[in-house]
Amino acid sequence: MSTPFTIAIDGPAAAGKGTISKAVAAHFGFAHLDTGLLYRAVGAKLLLGMEPIEAAQRLTAEDLQTYGLRSPEVAQAASKVAVIAEVRAALLDFQRSFARRAGGAVLDGRDIGTVICPEAEAKLFVTASAEVRADRRFAELSAQGAAISRAQVLADVKERDARDRNRAEAPLLPADDAVEIDTSDMSIEAAIAAAIAAIEARRA
Ligand code: DC
Repeated sequence: MSTPFTIAIDGPAAAGKGTISKAVAAHFGFAHLDTGLLYRAVGAKLLLGMEPIEAAQRLTAEDLQTYGLRSPEVAQAASKVAVIAEVRAALLDFQRSFARRAGGAVLDGRDIGTVICPEAEAKLFVTASAEVRADRRFAELSAQGAAISRAQVLADVKERDARDRNRAEAPLLPADDAVEIDTSDMSIEAAIAAAIAAIEARRA
């Protein structure tokens, strides 16, 4: 397909967006952008003492490859820089051009269906209970050998949810025309199948 087709996948931390987005992109042969990485890269620079707005304005593709962007500390820093309107504005053009590239694109984040690509042809809002999300993230971090308790992971998830949902600028929110998928009681295979079915319905 050479005309743009944008799939917007939003939702809170650890709901399964990342895994679903990768699988959806592979299924349709589309490019995939994990927009959380942009905020994580700016968050990592904040932790190094840099000014976040300037860091966002100067962000390069190499910054997205930086080691350690998946750590809980960087996730919290990302959520903090994400409330700054100028940081969000600096990251807008890159996301919009990615979304409208020829050949189709999947973008996952918090505000893709509402702010970045309100014109996206298909929109999903992927959720799961905070408990289930904390369990998944804890299993992931433990497997990587991170020294963190399940209680701390749950507290982090809730803190980040509250900040992402209550901020003035582009808060985490389902678009009016988004299809909601609650993955709390679903296997990852079932969640991917539900996502693909919802997108196929929009393509028809
Ligand atoms: O998806 P993630 O956990 O990697 O995102 C990290 C943080 O970045 C998240 O807590 C809020 C912010 N973010 C955002 O504000 N808008 C996006 N489109 C993606 C992420």
